Amino acid sequence: MYSEKVMDHFSNPRNVGEIADANAIGEVGNPQCGDIMKIYMKINDETGVIEQVSFKTFGCGAAIATSSMATELVKGKTIEEALALTNKAVAEALDGLPPVKMHCSVLAEEAVRSAIADYYERRGEEVPQGLKCS
Ligand code: FES
Ligand code: FES
Repeated sequence: MYSEKVMDHFSNPRNVGEIADANAIGEVGNPQCGDIMKIYMKINDETGVIEQVSFKTFGCGAAIATSSMATELVKGKTIEEALALTNKAVAEALDGLPPVKMHCSVLAEEAVRSAIADYYERRGEEVPQGLKCS
């Protein structure tokens, strides 16, 4: 049912935990299943580069694998690049997800966007339109 990459990121997730001095924290919940995903980032204020990123996910194996992959995909990227990350790209980087598990990748995309929205809020800047997820 799952690709080798999904199994790898599920059994050996990258970037797990919290970042003590994170300046961007996103949290999203999945209404379909009640799972929760948190993403922590340390963003360089000068360059807008995501220098550190980590996650904590209470959820299914696919949610853990997609969080792990999403953190790998945004690490070292700029805010703009991270905002361009789609759930499809996360799923593709994992060599696909079963259709019933695609919503788990949506959670990962939303968690990244939620963290970046939090970054703007903390800086007292207006959160760009469409960035806040419910
Ligand atoms: Fe909750 Fe997936 S339904 S873990
Ligand atoms: Fe709920 Fe995967 S996030 S089933």
